[in-house]
Amino acid sequence: MTEELNRYIRLIPKAELHLHIEGSLEPDLMFSMAKKNGVNIKYKSEDDLRAAYNFNNLQEFLDIYYAGADVLITEQDFYDLTIAYLKKIKEDNVIHTEIFFDPQTHTARGIGFDTVVKGITRALHVGKEQMGISSHLIMCFLRHLDEQSAQETLDLALGYKDKIIGVGLDSSELGNPPSKFANVFKRAQKEGFLTVAHAGEEGPAEYVWEAINVLNVMRIDHGVQSINDKKLVAELVKTRMPLTVCPLSNLKLKVVSDLKELPLKRMIDKNILVTINSDDPSYFGGYINQNYIETAEALNLTKDDILQLAKNSFTASFLTDAEKKYYLDKVDAVDKELRKQSHPANIM
Ligand code: HPA
Ligand code: ZN
Repeated sequence: MTEELNRYIRLIPKAELHLHIEGSLEPDLMFSMAKKNGVNIKYKSEDDLRAAYNFNNLQEFLDIYYAGADVLITEQDFYDLTIAYLKKIKEDNVIHTEIFFDPQTHTARGIGFDTVVKGITRALHVGKEQMGISSHLIMCFLRHLDEQSAQETLDLALGYKDKIIGVGLDSSELGNPPSKFANVFKRAQKEGFLTVAHAGEEGPAEYVWEAINVLNVMRIDHGVQSINDKKLVAELVKTRMPLTVCPLSNLKLKVVSDLKELPLKRMIDKNILVTINSDDPSYFGGYINQNYIETAEALNLTKDDILQLAKNSFTASFLTDAEKKYYLDKVDAVDKELRKQSHPANIM
C-alpha cells in the first residue's frame, strides 16, 4: 500500500459500530486486574495467553473471551477497561463509537448490572468531555442462553434507558437463530430500545433474514454470509440495511481463510451500507485502523472506497440526522484537505 493511502486511512474521521468492550481487554490489563482482584488466570504469562489466541472457530474464541472477562469485578475495572479502549481509538481518529457489553457474563458471576453500566458510562462521559469521542451503549443478549434469561436482563435495563440506547444479540450463532429471541426483542422495541443482532457470521443467510423479518433489527452485525443470497443482497440495498463487518475477526475465527475472500469490496460496489469495525481488537490483532489497512491491502481498496466506508460508518450509526450531517461534513472536510495535500499543484 502507498504511504499516501495509509495516511489517508489513519487520518480520516470514522465511527466504530461493532465493538465488544470485553473484547478490548488487553493481556497486560487482564493480568493486572487478576492480581488486584485475586482472580486465577490459567495462563502463566501474557505471552502464554497470547499464544492461546489461535482460534479455529467462534466457539474457541468465546471460551477464552468469557474466561478473560472473569477478572472484571469492580466499577473501576469497567471504567479502566473502557478508558483504555477510548485511548486506543483516539489514536485511530475514531470520533464516535457504539459499544456492546454482555451483562449476563457479569451478572452470572454476581457482579451487579449497576456496577457494569456505571463503570462503562463514567468512562464514556470522560471520552465525550475530555477526548472528543461521542458514544452510545448497546447491551447484547447471549444467544447460547435461553430467552427467559434475556427477558430478565431486559428487566434490569429498564432503569437505564438514559444510558443504554439499544439491545443486540451475540455469542454462539450456530443452533441459536434470531427467532429464539423474538419475544424479548419485541418487548425491547416496545420499551424504546433500538435493535441490532449478530447474524450471518458463521450462521447462514437465513439467519440474516430472521434478524430482519422476525427481530426487526436496524443493523446486522457481521452479515458477511448475505453475499450468498441474491435476494437478500437486493433487500439490503433496497432497505439501506447496514452491515458491521469485522475483517480481522473473520480472519482469526476462520470465517474466511484469507482477507482476499472477504466480500467487502463487492458489497461496496453493490451499494450495500457496509462498514469496517474491530469486534474484539485485543483478541483479533488490531483496532479499527489495522482492520481498514489490512482490508485495503487485501482487496486493493481505493481512497474513494475508504471515504465511502468512513461515511457509511456515520450514516449507519444511531446518531440523530443533525449529528450525522455534522460528522459527514467533517469527513468531507478532512477528505478535501488530505487530497489537497497529496496533490499540492491542485491548490491553485
Ligand atoms: N460473534 C459472536 N459473539 C461475540 C463476538 C462475535 O464476533 N465477539 C464477542 N462476542
Ligand atoms: Zn461481535
